[in-house]
Amino acid sequence: MEELKKAAAHHATSYVKDGMIVGLGTGSTTKYAIEKIGEMVKDGLHIKGIATSRETEKLANEAGIPLVPLNEHDIDVTIDGADQVDGKLNLIKGGGGALLREKMVASCSMKEIIVVDESKIVSSFSFPLPVEVVKFGWESVAKKLRAFGFTPKLREGFITDNGNYILDCKYTSIENAEEMETMLNSIPGVVENGLFVKLADVVVVGTKGGIKIIKSNL
Ligand code: A5P
Repeated sequence: MEELKKAAAHHATSYVKDGMIVGLGTGSTTKYAIEKIGEMVKDGLHIKGIATSRETEKLANEAGIPLVPLNEHDIDVTIDGADQVDGKLNLIKGGGGALLREKMVASCSMKEIIVVDESKIVSSFSFPLPVEVVKFGWESVAKKLRAFGFTPKLREGFITDNGNYILDCKYTSIENAEEMETMLNSIPGVVENGLFVKLADVVVVGTKGGIKIIKSNL
């Protein structure tokens, strides 16, 4: 599986060109892209990176990629991972807990490239949905999530880069990702949720038969 992740991540770096502002995602798949971009920078590529987490900031620094804060930058291309990708190219993200910054960066990106191995392509979501919530009164948010049919579980010992908690929410099915994303974010105390709807432009899938590219037709 690591080889498939690496192949997808390396392929995605072909979208990175000189002079670009590049969003750098978080996770074990994106890590391979960051290392590769670091090599490209050493070979003379000029880009500026925007990190989606402290973990990625550290990796990018080690790889020698110059970083800038998100601020008002338009991002040319972002490479990020996902926990699951459905047939409409909606995503579940946040397994690594970086969903808020990842979604902010994705929303500012002209091209969002998702890198995954083939096991993450699904017909319907099943990965527990990460929901970032403020610490204050998080149990009251969990209660509301239960009323919506979720089974939320506090991610023990984990604090996000933004100082919040994550509730990993099991469910039987998510019929309408767009409605669910909006509904979850309307609960007071929810900061962001891991449903990424209409944000992915290209999904690069590492399969045993080679690289497969899925493009959004939106
Ligand atoms: C980080 O919060 C996540 O959104 C990751 O992008 C996602 O969990 C994929 O990570 P892996 O590449 O490690 O599976």
